[in-house]
Amino acid sequence: MRTVSTLDELRDSRLSLDGTVGLVPTMGFLHDGHLSLIRRARDECKRVVVSIFVNPTQFGPKEDLAKYPRDLERDFRLIEPFTDLVWTPAPESMYPTGYQTWVEVEAVTRPLEGAMRPGHFKGVTTVVAKLFNAVQPHKAYFGQKDAQQAAVIRRMVRDLNFPIEIVVCPTQREADGLAMSSRNVYLDTEQRKAATVLFHSLSAARELYESGERDAATVREKMKDVLASEPLAEPQYVSCADYDTLEELNEIKGKALLSMAVFIGKTRLIDNFVLG
Ligand code: PAF
Repeated sequence: MRTVSTLDELRDSRLSLDGTVGLVPTMGFLHDGHLSLIRRARDECKRVVVSIFVNPTQFGPKEDLAKYPRDLERDFRLIEPFTDLVWTPAPESMYPTGYQTWVEVEAVTRPLEGAMRPGHFKGVTTVVAKLFNAVQPHKAYFGQKDAQQAAVIRRMVRDLNFPIEIVVCPTQREADGLAMSSRNVYLDTEQRKAATVLFHSLSAARELYESGERDAATVREKMKDVLASEPLAEPQYVSCADYDTLEELNEIKGKALLSMAVFIGKTRLIDNFVLG
């Protein structure tokens, strides 16, 4: 595995990568969720590039960029068996002084995470476009856990004609159903137990759907009821929306996305299930 940090080094190393190149963009502090993306890239591509960059522009003013967990040495050890090239750009090279160019996707970024975290997706799409331009992968891998991010990136790739296939991989879960996330390390023992309520709420809603319920309001109510049974859970939003546009549904017809953001203590967790 070759490790590079400057753009020149990245471009030089990229030239020597032959065949299909898969990119897995990450912010580091890797867990099994990231490793499942990297393994999938390894299975599908001749060469695998991983980027590790804690992107400052996708953090809001109240979100603590400085506290975002980091452990590069451990990350390198974990990905070494599956990765040809790892790129760890410096923030000043991604956003040099005077930086003023942004990539913004419109409607699909507005609801859900976009409504709660203004400016977040502008930071995500800008950095992902920059990573795509630099690495020029044939395929790029993202997790279904960040369902809106995946929908936004699919839209950006279509709209800007990036010749890149976006592969969205299933959410990796702990044995009790909690979706894997770098943020889970912030939960204490009691909060960690309480956090399974997201999975239970989504599971109850999916059961309702599987028993034939198609009224989206009833499905949303079911999710809220289960969340309300956990005193430590403070829901921020609960949604039953169209899978591609993320517009809230009245009736579930095609593919739909059940999603939620819930505070457990100070930790904000998100999770989702796809229906249909
Ligand atoms: O999902 C993430 O870790 C980040 O949003 C991404 C895609 C690496 C962009 O910074």
